[in-house]
Amino acid sequence: MAAASLDPTERLLRACRGEPVDRPPVWLMRQAGRYLPEYRAVREGLPFLDFCGDVEKAVEVSLQPLRRVGTEAVIVFSDIFVPIPGMGVSVEFAPGPVVAEPIRSRSQVENLRVPDPRETVPFVFEILRTLRRELADVRVPLLGFAGAPFTLAAYLVEGHGSSDFPVLQRMIAEEPATLRALLAKLTDLVVAHLEAQVEAGAQVVQLFDTWAGLLSPELYREWVLPTHREIVAKLPRAQAPLVLYVRDSSHLLDLVLESGADVISVDWRVDLADAARRAAGRASLQGNLDPGLLFAPPELIAERVREAAAAARGARGHVLNLGHGVLPGTPVEGVCAFTEAARSIGEGEL
Ligand code: CP3
Repeated sequence: MAAASLDPTERLLRACRGEPVDRPPVWLMRQAGRYLPEYRAVREGLPFLDFCGDVEKAVEVSLQPLRRVGTEAVIVFSDIFVPIPGMGVSVEFAPGPVVAEPIRSRSQVENLRVPDPRETVPFVFEILRTLRRELADVRVPLLGFAGAPFTLAAYLVEGHGSSDFPVLQRMIAEEPATLRALLAKLTDLVVAHLEAQVEAGAQVVQLFDTWAGLLSPELYREWVLPTHREIVAKLPRAQAPLVLYVRDSSHLLDLVLESGADVISVDWRVDLADAARRAAGRASLQGNLDPGLLFAPPELIAERVREAAAAARGARGHVLNLGHGVLPGTPVEGVCAFTEAARSIGEGEL
């Protein structure tokens, strides 16, 4: 049974929980960012972390995609590294995160603090509270987010981004106790950060595990799944459903589903119809168009959006999104074509 004329908040929350909706809601990972000229104008000249800490500017860029590209949810503008300096680790952006003193020894892990983010990064919650007020009238839902422990650990151990994180791989093999202790502290931080975001008004929260897909199923079960299960168990999910994103996870999907997250966000390597069968009512799905598709003509984008919605029909719920963030240089028209196609999906087609 379809539900007629839902507002955007009801549509997203229902899709996350697997309740009937009129059509899938739509938003985009990295919908605020460099592809928007108005983002570049506000961002200009400010170091990235200072930008994330500027309440007025962060509120402004969080809202930009709502006006410009017709997205149906707002994600708070921040970064997965924002709460990390509060642990006692200095991080810079060039343009990705760079850790001057990578965390590689047991004593470094022991020295890490697990702060209350309300004290170390109060601006994140002020941004959320302001956004919630701004969005109340239009009934647009607000998302919070955090980096997952494994992905945060990958950067902290390696010191910077990498395609294969060799120092991390070595730590898995040779220093498992150190890595386990680091993941435990990061898991506590992530739970505290997401809890505080829900308290400040986030209605859905997304956990980004961008690099967990590097692992084999065996290593994922050992190193990643327990962190996800702990976060799922500790968050107030009745208040705010949890979306779990693991990039490059087609070989891991059954294990990702074992997390118990409300929504599993998959990338374009995953077949949505197959994922829906495997989820078998346990979780809703989010995704999964290739961000590169947004460079294509609008008709092709619209066709792919309709195909994704049809493929996900067997899922208990579906949130239309990309399989990873919007790429810098994406034409704004491509992003608009994506959201327009999503909004034109009628009940009859589904
Ligand atoms: O989605 C949104 O619009 C909300 C904001 C958001 C940012 N980062 C802002 C940002 C979110 C949800 C993130 C998540 C994030 N950050 C992840 C997980 C998801 C993913 O994309 O894989 C990771 C791994 C990071 C770490 C990070 N931050 C990297 C690797 C980089 C540089 C490379 C890149 O993609 O730009 C950043 C910088 C960053 N975070 C930018 C933005 C808009 C670009 C900053 C700029 O130069 O203006």
